[in-house]
Amino acid sequence: MKPQTVAIDGPAGAGKSTVARLLAAQLGFLYVDSGAMYRAVALKVRENAIDPADETAVAMLARTVRIVFVPGDTADAEQGVHVDGSDVTTAIRVPEIASLASVVSAIPGVRSALVTQQQALGTQGGVVMEGRDIGTVVFPHAEVKVFLTASPDERAVRRHKDILSRGVDTTIDAVRADQDERDGRDASRAVSPLTVAPDALEISSDGKTPEQIVGEILRHIETLRSEG
Ligand code: DC
Repeated sequence: MKPQTVAIDGPAGAGKSTVARLLAAQLGFLYVDSGAMYRAVALKVRENAIDPADETAVAMLARTVRIVFVPGDTADAEQGVHVDGSDVTTAIRVPEIASLASVVSAIPGVRSALVTQQQALGTQGGVVMEGRDIGTVVFPHAEVKVFLTASPDERAVRRHKDILSRGVDTTIDAVRADQDERDGRDASRAVSPLTVAPDALEISSDGKTPEQIVGEILRHIETLRSEG
């Protein structure tokens, strides 16, 4: 089996982005951060002063927004995100936009618009896509599915470090409160809640380096390959 599609799902702060980016580089696949697309819609909602409760207006925006990924210079460099021609790579990473992304991602019309775009990105060849519903909804037939998780404490520490490194001042308690709220919303929403696909390999990233996790996934791919 030669995988064409690798789906990596899991909660915020489990280390999905680093792992997915490294894995895509090793396999020579396209890397897609689907969360960045929900964040891009959230940013446009805020910029256009749309009421997030106006589901029709938000879904319309999700259908018309043009999101383009720009590969980073190196395998471990962050991927650029352009929305309607503007570089929003940094602007979508602030905590306020993460919260708003979690809110707009619960709107069915937003999900269907972005899932269509994500599926289109997967038709161009090998892809590693990370998110919450990649192995369950976007690519239910993906050859390789991984559910990456970590303890809530470790995830909060990781996100705190990440947010500080982006020049945004925050406390670990604030990050943990925000994380608990988002986890609850992402797991309990009516459409495509965060769930583990039955055929996913579950990996805990606690105490592991991204390279170790990539190694585990590559071994899993080898096993699947030898089986079929
Ligand atoms: O992975 P992230 O933190 O950048 O995602 C931002 C929000 O987008 C997150 O709270 C849930 C939502 N999301 C989603 O619902 N489905 C995805 N496939 C990816 C992200």
